[in-house]
Amino acid sequence: MGKSDMSKYTIVTLEEVHSTNSYALEHIAFLDDKTVIFTSHQTSGRGRYNRHWISDNSENLYMSIVLKPENVSSYPFPNLTQYLSVSVCRVLENVFNLVPNIKWPNDILINGAKISGILAESSMENNKITGIVLGIGLNVNLPKETIEKIDQKATSISVLNQQNYDVEKILHNICDEFFSNYDAFVSNGFEYIKDEYIQRCSFIGQNITVREAEEKKQYFAKSIDNDGLLIVNDKFNNEYKIITGDVLC
Ligand code: BTN
Repeated sequence: MGKSDMSKYTIVTLEEVHSTNSYALEHIAFLDDKTVIFTSHQTSGRGRYNRHWISDNSENLYMSIVLKPENVSSYPFPNLTQYLSVSVCRVLENVFNLVPNIKWPNDILINGAKISGILAESSMENNKITGIVLGIGLNVNLPKETIEKIDQKATSISVLNQQNYDVEKILHNICDEFFSNYDAFVSNGFEYIKDEYIQRCSFIGQNITVREAEEKKQYFAKSIDNDGLLIVNDKFNNEYKIITGDVLC
């Protein structure tokens, strides 16, 4: 365990773990606010909706950020993953010269192929949140041959830039970006990232398919409101706000 240079967060490195999110949730009582769990191998990496997240190799980044906010009444819980997705996009753009897009609420795509996903979970005690865990999976050195075997349309930094990268350096890039603006985000909420988030949502102004629970519906994506919710129109021009779900595009 060691303090990062910015001394704003602590990284806990595990050689191998079932899932950095599960580990963080299991040890939440003993982990401080702004602790980051990092590993190069997960044996049971998990994605959203209980999907499996391939993590049995050290080619990619697997990390979880632990947050323990004190003032929960004004804390922007619903927008945390949106803030994190903006932070990851900034790193991909500034450090790797890539042009990432966000697929609401927090998948990160490049040229329509997924490069990163976020899994947010929380632990509760007596109806009170005792901690939040933000898990990030980022395809760093995943080779083209492996990607071709995966069903989902995916990509990696190495495929796009034709070279391999140091995964641990990227862990620091993301943590530095996330924590350097974290306090400002907590004070200002979604407003703090709204313009940039919308600008990075490539599907606004297009017809989209949204999966809500097991149902798939067609909409026109209009905008994102001040709370980060997706505003859509159905084919009869009725307006809805989508709170949870996945944009399938
Ligand atoms: C998704 O797009 O479905 C979210 C994927 C999140 C994967 C990361 S890898 C690190 C952390 N630990 C997990 O088990 N899952 C998240």
